[in-house]
Amino acid sequence: MERLQKVIANSGLTSRRKAEELINSGKVLVNGKIASLGMKVNDSDIIMVNGEVLEKNEKKVYYMLNKPRGVISSASDEKNRKTVVSLIDTDIRIYPIGRLDYDTTGLLLLTNDGELANILMHPKNEVEKTYIAKIEGNLTPQEFYSLKKGIMIEDRKVIPTRLKVRKTTIDSQIIEISIIEGRNHIIKKIFAALGHSVSKLKRESYAFLSLGNLKSGEYRELTLKEVKKLYSFK
Ligand code: URA
Repeated sequence: MERLQKVIANSGLTSRRKAEELINSGKVLVNGKIASLGMKVNDSDIIMVNGEVLEKNEKKVYYMLNKPRGVISSASDEKNRKTVVSLIDTDIRIYPIGRLDYDTTGLLLLTNDGELANILMHPKNEVEKTYIAKIEGNLTPQEFYSLKKGIMIEDRKVIPTRLKVRKTTIDSQIIEISIIEGRNHIIKKIFAALGHSVSKLKRESYAFLSLGNLKSGEYRELTLKEVKKLYSFK
Protein backbone atom coordinates (compact mmCIF):
# COMPACT_ATOMS: atom_id res chain seq x y z
CA MET A 1 0.00 0.00 0.00
CA GLU A 2 1.29 3.43 -0.95
CA ARG A 3 -0.02 6.94 -0.43
CA LEU A 4 -2.08 8.09 -3.39
CA GLN A 5 -0.18 11.34 -3.96
CA LYS A 6 3.08 9.38 -4.06
CA VAL A 7 1.71 6.90 -6.61
CA ILE A 8 0.53 9.76 -8.83
CA ALA A 9 3.87 11.57 -8.54
CA ASN A 10 5.85 8.38 -9.18
CA SER A 11 3.89 7.73 -12.37
CA GLY A 12 5.61 10.80 -13.75
CA LEU A 13 2.31 12.58 -14.40
CA THR A 14 3.00 15.46 -12.07
CA SER A 15 4.83 16.51 -8.90
CA ARG A 16 3.80 15.34 -5.44
CA ARG A 17 2.54 18.85 -4.58
CA LYS A 18 0.43 19.07 -7.76
CA ALA A 19 -0.91 15.59 -7.07
CA GLU A 20 -2.03 16.76 -3.62
CA GLU A 21 -3.78 19.75 -5.17
CA LEU A 22 -5.56 17.49 -7.66
CA ILE A 23 -6.72 15.20 -4.86
CA ASN A 24 -7.91 18.16 -2.75
CA SER A 25 -9.85 19.59 -5.65
CA GLY A 26 -11.73 16.31 -6.16
CA LYS A 27 -10.15 15.54 -9.54
CA VAL A 28 -8.84 12.15 -8.48
CA LEU A 29 -11.02 9.03 -8.27
CA VAL A 30 -10.00 5.69 -6.80
CA ASN A 31 -12.18 2.80 -7.99
CA GLY A 32 -14.78 5.33 -9.06
CA LYS A 33 -14.98 7.25 -5.77
CA ILE A 34 -13.57 10.71 -5.07
CA ALA A 35 -10.25 10.26 -3.34
CA SER A 36 -9.02 11.96 -0.19
CA LEU A 37 -5.52 13.19 0.56
CA GLY A 38 -3.32 10.63 2.29
CA MET A 39 -5.41 7.61 1.41
CA LYS A 40 -3.47 4.49 0.55
CA VAL A 41 -3.82 2.48 -2.62
CA ASN A 42 -2.47 -0.78 -3.92
CA ASP A 43 -1.52 -2.06 -7.37
CA SER A 44 -5.00 -3.28 -8.24
CA ASP A 45 -6.76 0.03 -7.47
CA ILE A 46 -7.88 1.99 -10.53
CA ILE A 47 -6.87 5.61 -10.21
CA MET A 48 -8.36 8.28 -12.46
CA VAL A 49 -6.92 11.77 -12.69
CA ASN A 50 -8.90 14.42 -14.55
CA GLY A 51 -11.04 11.69 -16.09
CA GLU A 52 -8.12 9.60 -17.37
CA VAL A 53 -6.90 6.30 -15.97
CA LEU A 54 -3.45 6.72 -14.44
CA GLU A 55 -0.75 4.60 -16.06
CA LYS A 56 1.34 3.56 -13.11
CA ASN A 57 4.58 3.33 -15.04
CA GLU A 58 6.76 4.54 -12.25
CA LYS A 59 9.76 6.63 -13.14
CA LYS A 60 12.81 4.37 -13.41
CA VAL A 61 15.72 5.18 -11.15
CA TYR A 62 19.24 3.72 -11.01
CA TYR A 63 21.81 4.17 -8.25
CA MET A 64 25.36 3.05 -7.63
CA LEU A 65 26.15 2.67 -3.93
CA ASN A 66 29.47 2.09 -2.22
CA LYS A 67 28.07 -0.37 0.30
CA PRO A 68 29.60 -0.19 3.77
CA ARG A 69 30.18 -3.25 5.98
CA GLY A 70 27.38 -4.21 8.35
CA VAL A 71 24.53 -3.38 6.00
CA ILE A 72 22.20 -5.97 4.51
CA SER A 73 21.61 -6.17 0.73
CA SER A 74 17.84 -6.18 0.69
CA ALA A 75 14.92 -3.81 0.86
CA SER A 76 13.89 -4.93 4.37
CA ASP A 77 15.21 -7.19 7.11
CA GLU A 78 13.28 -9.22 9.67
CA LYS A 79 16.09 -8.67 12.20
CA ASN A 80 15.83 -4.91 11.70
CA ARG A 81 19.38 -4.53 10.50
CA LYS A 82 20.28 -1.52 8.40
CA THR A 83 19.54 -2.12 4.70
CA VAL A 84 21.21 -0.80 1.56
CA VAL A 85 17.89 0.72 0.50
CA SER A 86 17.71 2.83 3.67
CA LEU A 87 21.00 4.50 2.69
CA ILE A 88 19.41 6.03 -0.41
CA ASP A 89 17.21 9.06 -0.15
CA THR A 90 14.28 8.31 -2.44
CA ASP A 91 10.53 7.79 -2.15
CA ILE A 92 10.60 5.25 -4.95
CA ARG A 93 10.62 1.58 -4.00
CA ILE A 94 14.01 0.30 -5.11
CA TYR A 95 15.93 -2.92 -4.53
CA PRO A 96 19.50 -4.09 -5.06
CA ILE A 97 20.56 -5.88 -8.25
CA GLY A 98 22.01 -9.04 -6.73
CA ARG A 99 23.59 -9.16 -3.30
CA LEU A 100 26.72 -8.37 -1.43
CA ASP A 101 27.20 -10.13 1.92
CA TYR A 102 26.62 -8.26 5.18
CA ASP A 103 30.39 -7.88 5.66
CA THR A 104 31.24 -7.22 1.98
CA THR A 105 31.77 -3.64 0.84
CA GLY A 106 31.76 -1.95 -2.52
CA LEU A 107 29.81 -1.44 -5.68
CA LEU A 108 26.13 -2.30 -5.57
CA LEU A 109 23.48 -1.17 -8.05
CA LEU A 110 19.93 -0.43 -6.94
CA THR A 111 16.91 0.24 -9.10
CA ASN A 112 13.17 -0.18 -9.55
CA ASP A 113 13.72 -1.41 -13.13
CA GLY A 114 12.99 -5.14 -13.03
CA GLU A 115 13.83 -5.60 -16.69
CA LEU A 116 17.37 -4.26 -16.31
CA ALA A 117 17.85 -6.21 -13.05
CA ASN A 118 16.92 -9.43 -14.88
CA ILE A 119 19.25 -8.66 -17.77
CA LEU A 120 22.21 -8.03 -15.49
CA MET A 121 21.60 -11.04 -13.27
CA HIS A 122 21.05 -13.56 -16.06
CA PRO A 123 24.18 -15.73 -16.39
CA LYS A 124 23.94 -15.80 -20.19
CA ASN A 125 24.57 -12.06 -20.33
CA GLU A 126 28.01 -12.54 -18.76
CA VAL A 127 28.38 -9.42 -16.64
CA GLU A 128 31.87 -9.30 -15.17
CA LYS A 129 32.42 -8.30 -11.54
CA THR A 130 35.79 -7.56 -10.00
CA TYR A 131 36.50 -8.21 -6.33
CA ILE A 132 39.44 -7.44 -4.09
CA ALA A 133 39.75 -10.19 -1.50
CA LYS A 134 42.06 -10.27 1.48
CA ILE A 135 42.73 -13.90 2.25
CA GLU A 136 44.32 -15.63 5.23
CA GLY A 137 47.65 -17.15 4.27
CA ASN A 138 49.18 -17.18 0.80
CA LEU A 139 48.13 -19.08 -2.31
CA THR A 140 50.76 -21.60 -3.28
CA PRO A 141 51.77 -21.47 -6.97
CA GLN A 142 49.76 -24.68 -7.48
CA GLU A 143 46.67 -23.14 -5.87
CA PHE A 144 47.06 -20.01 -7.97
CA TYR A 145 47.27 -21.99 -11.21
CA SER A 146 44.45 -24.35 -10.34
CA LEU A 147 42.26 -21.33 -9.61
CA LYS A 148 43.33 -19.66 -12.84
CA LYS A 149 42.35 -22.77 -14.81
CA GLY A 150 38.99 -22.95 -13.07
CA ILE A 151 37.68 -24.43 -9.86
CA MET A 152 34.63 -26.60 -9.20
CA ILE A 153 32.19 -25.02 -6.79
CA GLU A 154 29.17 -27.20 -6.07
CA ASP A 155 29.30 -29.06 -9.39
CA ARG A 156 29.84 -25.96 -11.53
CA LYS A 157 33.21 -24.68 -12.65
CA VAL A 158 34.17 -21.06 -12.06
CA ILE A 159 36.91 -19.73 -14.32
CA PRO A 160 38.12 -16.28 -13.28
CA THR A 161 38.33 -13.86 -16.19
CA ARG A 162 41.19 -12.15 -14.34
CA LEU A 163 43.33 -13.17 -11.41
CA LYS A 164 46.15 -11.19 -9.91
CA VAL A 165 48.00 -11.08 -6.60
CA ARG A 166 48.12 -7.44 -5.59
CA LYS A 167 50.05 -7.76 -2.36
CA THR A 168 51.61 -10.49 -0.25
CA THR A 169 52.50 -10.40 3.45
CA ILE A 170 53.65 -13.29 5.65
CA ASP A 171 50.14 -14.27 6.69
CA SER A 172 47.82 -12.75 4.10
CA GLN A 173 47.37 -11.81 0.48
CA ILE A 174 45.34 -9.29 -1.43
CA ILE A 175 43.91 -10.87 -4.56
CA GLU A 176 42.12 -9.21 -7.45
CA ILE A 177 39.67 -11.61 -9.03
CA SER A 178 37.09 -11.05 -11.78
CA ILE A 179 34.29 -13.48 -12.43
CA ILE A 180 31.20 -13.60 -14.61
CA GLU A 181 28.86 -15.48 -12.38
CA GLY A 182 26.88 -14.31 -9.39
CA ARG A 183 26.14 -17.19 -7.03
CA ASN A 184 25.80 -16.14 -3.39
CA HIS A 185 29.08 -16.09 -1.40
CA ILE A 186 30.89 -17.26 -4.53
CA ILE A 187 34.23 -15.57 -3.78
CA LYS A 188 34.32 -16.91 -0.22
CA LYS A 189 33.47 -20.36 -1.56
CA ILE A 190 36.25 -20.19 -4.15
CA PHE A 191 38.91 -19.41 -1.56
CA ALA A 192 37.42 -21.82 0.98
CA ALA A 193 37.78 -24.56 -1.64
CA LEU A 194 41.50 -23.78 -1.68
CA GLY A 195 41.69 -23.74 2.13
CA HIS A 196 41.82 -19.95 2.64
CA SER A 197 39.27 -17.83 4.41
CA VAL A 198 38.44 -14.34 3.20
CA SER A 199 38.87 -11.72 5.90
CA LYS A 200 37.87 -8.72 3.78
CA LEU A 201 35.98 -8.47 0.51
CA LYS A 202 35.22 -5.49 -1.66
CA ARG A 203 33.57 -5.32 -5.08
CA GLU A 204 35.49 -2.79 -7.10
CA SER A 205 33.68 -2.94 -10.38
CA TYR A 206 30.52 -4.20 -12.02
CA ALA A 207 30.55 -4.49 -15.81
CA PHE A 208 32.17 -1.24 -17.02
CA LEU A 209 31.22 0.63 -13.84
CA SER A 210 33.67 1.32 -11.05
CA LEU A 211 33.34 3.17 -7.77
CA GLY A 212 35.41 6.20 -8.82
CA ASN A 213 35.64 8.49 -5.84
CA LEU A 214 32.47 7.33 -4.06
CA LYS A 215 33.31 6.88 -0.39
CA SER A 216 31.82 4.18 1.81
CA GLY A 217 28.08 4.84 2.21
CA GLU A 218 27.97 7.35 -0.65
CA TYR A 219 25.92 6.85 -3.78
CA ARG A 220 25.13 8.50 -7.10
CA GLU A 221 22.57 8.13 -9.84
CA LEU A 222 23.69 6.40 -13.00
CA THR A 223 23.77 8.55 -16.12
CA LEU A 224 21.46 7.83 -19.04
CA LYS A 225 24.48 6.74 -21.05
CA GLU A 226 25.49 4.23 -18.38
CA VAL A 227 21.94 2.84 -18.19
CA LYS A 228 21.84 2.42 -21.98
CA LYS A 229 25.19 0.66 -21.93
CA LEU A 230 23.95 -1.72 -19.21
CA TYR A 231 20.88 -2.48 -21.36
CA SER A 232 23.22 -3.46 -24.18
CA PHE A 233 24.13 -6.62 -22.22
CA LYS A 234 20.81 -8.02 -23.39
N1 URA B 1 31.16 -13.33 -3.16
C1 URA B 1 31.08 -13.42 -1.81
O1 URA B 1 31.58 -14.37 -1.23
N2 URA B 1 30.45 -12.44 -1.16
C2 URA B 1 29.92 -11.36 -1.75
O2 URA B 1 29.37 -10.49 -1.07
C3 URA B 1 30.01 -11.26 -3.16
C4 URA B 1 30.63 -12.27 -3.84
